[in-house]
Amino acid sequence: MHEPRIPTEPIIIIGAGHAGVSVAAGLRSQGWDGGVLLVDADGRLPYERPPLSKDLLKPGSAEQVTPLRRAGYYQERCIETVLGLDIRQIDVENRSVTLSDGSVRAYHRLVIATGSTARALRIPGGDLPGVQTLKTFDDAARLRTQLTPGARVVIVGAGYIGLEVAAAAAALDCDVTVLEFQDRVMSRVTSEPVSRFFEQHHENHGVRFVFGAAVTAVEGDERAERVLTADGGSYPADVVIAGIGVVPNQQLAEAAGLECNDGILVDQHGRTSHPEVYAAGDVTRFTSPFDGSSLRLECIQNAQAQADSIVHHIVEKPRKDPDIPWFWTVQHGVRLQTAGVRHPDDDAIVRGNVEDKKFSVVYLRNGKLSAVDTIDSLKDFMAAKRLIGAALDPVLVSAPGTSLAEAAI
Ligand code: NAI
Repeated sequence: MHEPRIPTEPIIIIGAGHAGVSVAAGLRSQGWDGGVLLVDADGRLPYERPPLSKDLLKPGSAEQVTPLRRAGYYQERCIETVLGLDIRQIDVENRSVTLSDGSVRAYHRLVIATGSTARALRIPGGDLPGVQTLKTFDDAARLRTQLTPGARVVIVGAGYIGLEVAAAAAALDCDVTVLEFQDRVMSRVTSEPVSRFFEQHHENHGVRFVFGAAVTAVEGDERAERVLTADGGSYPADVVIAGIGVVPNQQLAEAAGLECNDGILVDQHGRTSHPEVYAAGDVTRFTSPFDGSSLRLECIQNAQAQADSIVHHIVEKPRKDPDIPWFWTVQHGVRLQTAGVRHPDDDAIVRGNVEDKKFSVVYLRNGKLSAVDTIDSLKDFMAAKRLIGAALDPVLVSAPGTSLAEAAI
């Protein structure tokens, strides 16, 4: 009988975020018997990121990481971890990587799960003490000490990070101003009705917004004292947070000659342009299996789904159908859950009553459900996940008492 050969070299995974850890765990749960080596520049036990902009900033919360897997997990499953060293170079010809301590490790397959870096505020004074981004546990720990009652917190960017931090800071009795370039909050990810709802919701909790704000400089002697805008505005600040998006960490891949275009290009199995190298998570760009568009998705669901595809491809097992992308955020206790990926020109239909803080916005593209935003409406969220791609009757979608499933044509 044919015995499967166990390769002598391990599968090396670069990056121990949600994507990298999911690949390591998935390989073991799918019966991979060869070596697995997980490398991350961060010396901590791999941790969850969602609490960094939420629970970790709450009053009285314990200042500790929420590990993705408990401490003994990796050793028990023979997953070798190298935490605190980064990989400096990938040699796809010789199938090896060079670590920052100079050591060279050969791989059987390589998985790049290097994630993304928060975009820095590249304006004069943008590097003054007191100006920061929020991406790592250390960022969150530093920010936490600054969110004292009365502290003037200026947030640049009204995306997920900006709004979650605004909610946390307002709850800690800080004086919060959000400067956003666009004319509404979360414009990258949601439609006008949802933006306006969250804007009002934040304002009810004392958060101030300035839209159309072009931030030009941060000023201060020793540290940040004020943020200036192009229209002559000056916003006093004790702390400045930039939540202005992320850039994919694709430098290693680019230097190794892998195809990249605002993300490492991967196929439906997570393969890069080199057949022995895979990539997963925020760092990747791929073609949506749902509508053929080119996507770079910054969410845990996508990291885990791509990890799953890679694992199944490596162990040569069929994988299940692709998952519907989904996202969530909580701001001042209100939960926004999104299923699917909305395009700006999709039709947006409001379901339910915005005043009740319990409603959904259903997005139709050519009459078919492309995405849904639900505000504290779990039922619609669950229904929409099953119905993405189905044709819906727009009149029934907004009819009171009609379920989303009943609106299907
Ligand atoms: P984002 O892309 O969600 O929002 C950035 C915002 O900054 C946009 O509204 C944009 O118009 C604005 N902006 C950009 N440049 C600006 C400038 N110079 N001046 C003023 N405004 C400017 O990115 P964000 O909030 O930084 O989040 C970073 C990453 O973290 C994303 O990958 C996000 O998906 C992830 N994240 C996800 C969360 C969730 O799913 N709940 C929570 C927190 C972060």
